[in-house]
Amino acid sequence: MVPSNTYNMLQCFYGLVYLSAVLAFATLTGTQAECPVQLNPQRVVVRYGGSVAANCSTSVPHKGMGWEASEGGVPMTKNQSLITWRVPELTEWDIKPFCYINYKIGNEDQCKEELPVTVYKTPDSVFISVNHNGPMKEGELYELQCDVHNVAPVQNLTVNWYKGQTLLDQTTFTDTSETPVNKTATLLIRPDRADDGAQYRCEAELDLGAEGPQPHPTISSKPLNVEVYYKPQHSSSTETIIKDDKVMLDCTVKANPASTYTWDHLKEKNSSSVLKSSALSPGNYTCTATNALGRDSKVFIVKSTDRTTFWAIVLTGVAVAVALIASYLIFKFGFSKNSVI
Ligand SMILES: *[C@@H]1O[C@H](CO)[C@@H](O)[C@H](O)[C@H]1NC(C)=O
Ligand SMILES: *[C@@H]1O[C@H](CO)[C@@H](O)[C@H](O)[C@H]1NC(C)=O
Ligand SMILES: *[C@@H]1O[C@H](CO)[C@@H](O)[C@H](O)[C@H]1NC(C)=O
Ligand SMILES: *[C@@H]1O[C@H](CO)[C@@H](O)[C@H](O)[C@H]1NC(C)=O
Ligand SMILES: *[C@@H]1O[C@H](CO)[C@@H](O)[C@H](O)[C@H]1NC(C)=O
Ligand SMILES: *[C@@H]1O[C@H](CO)[C@@H](O)[C@H](O)[C@H]1NC(C)=O
Repeated sequence: MVPSNTYNMLQCFYGLVYLSAVLAFATLTGTQAECPVQLNPQRVVVRYGGSVAANCSTSVPHKGMGWEASEGGVPMTKNQSLITWRVPELTEWDIKPFCYINYKIGNEDQCKEELPVTVYKTPDSVFISVNHNGPMKEGELYELQCDVHNVAPVQNLTVNWYKGQTLLDQTTFTDTSETPVNKTATLLIRPDRADDGAQYRCEAELDLGAEGPQPHPTISSKPLNVEVYYKPQHSSSTETIIKDDKVMLDCTVKANPASTYTWDHLKEKNSSSVLKSSALSPGNYTCTATNALGRDSKVFIVKSTDRTTFWAIVLTGVAVAVALIASYLIFKFGFSKNSVI
């Protein structure tokens, strides 16, 4: 009995021999098959239901040429060197027209050239949705879904994801199909507070190459408005305030849903986000903003203006003023005396 390893190696060897033979044959026929016809254009891209035409011409004498196709075929003609394949309304997804010529190459009496045809169709609808009802929460993961209905060919389809005007991501498809398909693309997002009120949308784009329509046909979904819940977060957790006549402590902070506020160190409860008072004594006042997602506190350190410093400033001011007046007087009277003499 042959061990399975040897058997596998043999199989592999024969595989390689066969592959080489196929390749050699392909190369031989490839160099041989210089069919003396020119297609113009060399490939076509046409909307389903649209009109299409291509020429096949030759510069050699021949015993007949024609177009073979399930639509728009041209019967063999012997006295022409240019024949046109033409379909005014193409309604076939997998049409494969070819131009043939009865002309002797090697052992063959006929050769042919196929015209590659891409038939496309823009989607009937593009729809965006999310796997969740109601407001999203900051920092959590959500899946957006884009449904593209009845589009062809799928290998030329790109789904573009936008937030506002910003392109977030692109989805392409690896499967191939000539007939229309329904496709679903998904995108994971983790929204933050800046995304509250953002608009997401997806767009189906058909890139059909240089022969295809320019600009690329695109169909956009309606925008999906998202609401994001996020907890209050002060930009700084303490603030120092020098008390003068009026003190204003502003604890207002953005949050969704809006925060409620509480203040410590106050005799009476106050749920306003701003404290305005002339009667606040120096000390620390802590405010806490709270919503359904969390809370955040901020400490206002209220300091009195220092009395010694105040009087020092006043006295310095007075002294400087007196000095200025005195020097002015001395200068003025001293000058006048001199000028009289
Ligand atoms: C095909 O040939 C005809 C006649 O020469 C010409 O008028 C026409 O523009 C050509 N069409 C294409 C697609 O090249
Ligand atoms: C080619 O021959 C057919 C008859 O076989 C004739 O009806 C046609 O007018 C000819 N066309 C040209 C361009 O000579
Ligand atoms: C695509 O979806 C539509 C509507 O849901 C359905 O009627 C159609 O058969 C679907 N097409 C394919 C190719 O699945
Ligand atoms: C899109 O279509 C064109 C024309 O059919 C083709 O040449 C090209 O390779 C396609 N692009 C992709 C990404 O499949
Ligand atoms: C809270 O304080 C503000 C300003 O300091 C004042 O206008 C308001 O009446 C107070 N509210 C309560 C419930 O005490
Ligand atoms: C107020 O807060 C500051 C800084 O957090 C701290 O240094 C100070 O001791 C506090 N004062 C009072 C009266 O609690």
